[in-house]
Amino acid sequence: MEIIHLPALVKEAIKVLNPIPGGTYVDATIGPGGHSEEILTLIGTGGKLIGIDRDNEALRTAQERLSDKRVILRKGSFSDMEKLLKKDGITEVDGILFDLGISMIQMKNIERGFSFISDKRMDMRMDREQALSARDVVNKYSANELERILREFGEERLSRKISEAIVRKRRIKPIDTCSELSEIVERVYGRRGRVHPATKTFQALRIEVNKELDELQKGLDASVKILKRGGRLCVISYHSLEDRIVKHFIARSSKEPLTPGSEEIRSNPSSRSAKLRAAERI
Ligand SMILES: C[S@@+](CC[C@H](N)C(=O)[O-])C[C@H]1O[C@@H](n2cnc3c(N)ncnc32)[C@H](O)[C@@H]1O
Repeated sequence: MEIIHLPALVKEAIKVLNPIPGGTYVDATIGPGGHSEEILTLIGTGGKLIGIDRDNEALRTAQERLSDKRVILRKGSFSDMEKLLKKDGITEVDGILFDLGISMIQMKNIERGFSFISDKRMDMRMDREQALSARDVVNKYSANELERILREFGEERLSRKISEAIVRKRRIKPIDTCSELSEIVERVYGRRGRVHPATKTFQALRIEVNKELDELQKGLDASVKILKRGGRLCVISYHSLEDRIVKHFIARSSKEPLTPGSEEIRSNPSSRSAKLRAAERI
C-alpha cells in the first residue's frame, strides 16, 4: 500500500504565507512537497521556490512531484538556510514556511526506525548520512544524560526509572530494535493506557538524534535575516516544546495560533496536534 503524507493546515498556512506572483519563497521542510505544490500555484511563472530538507528520500519525492523549473531543491539543515540560499545567489525572500517534524512517509517506513511497534533497528535519523542514531543514544549515553533527555525532550515523568531500566538492560546486551526499547518502557509503566507508554521516550530520542530544538531556534534566527520587509514567516509545530520556541521567537509580532479546523482533524488525524503561528517582518 502506498503511504501518502497529507499536508497539515495547508489552507491556513497558504493564507498567512500569502504567496505573491513573482515572489521568492522558502519551504524549509519540503518533505514530499505538499505545501510547496500549493505555493507554486500562486507565485506565477516569475516566482521561485527553494525547498530544503535533510532527507535525501524526501527530496527525491519532492523532485518527482514538483519537477518544475521554478523549484530549487537543496539538501541540508534549515539552520544553514542563509548559506544554502547564498550558493544560488539568493539573499532575501518573500516568505518562509516551516512544517516541523517528520512526514508520514518517514514515520511509516519501518526501516527508518521511528515507530515503536517494529522489530527494526532504532534509527530515527532524518538525514541518513548523519553518524548519530537512536541506537547510539540508547546504548552509549550515560544514565544521567538519558534521564535529562527523557525529562527535557519527552516531558517524561518516569525519566529516572526508564533511564535506569535502559542501563540495566544494555549491560546484558545492546538494545537494538524499536520494540526492545518500547518493551522496556512498557515494563516500567506496568500497564498500557490509551497512548502507548513509549510515546514520550521516542519523541525525546528523535529530538536528541536530530537536534530538533537547536535546529528550530537557529532556523528561526536565520529566517529573520533573509526575510524582506513585509515578508511572512509561517511555522507549523506539533508539540509544546516546539511551539514554546516559536511563540517566544515571534512573541512581539505573533498573531494568535490557529489550530486545525474540525474538518481537517477528521481527514488527517496526524494533524490533530498541529499549531500554526505566523509573523510578518516589519
Ligand atoms: C512534516 S514534514 C514536511 C511535509 C511537507 N510540508 C508536506 O506537507 O508535504 C517535515 C520535513 O522536514 C524535514 N526536516 C525536519 N527538520 C529539518 C531540518 N532541521 N532541516 C531540514 N529539514 C528538516 C524532515 O526530514 C521532513 O521531510
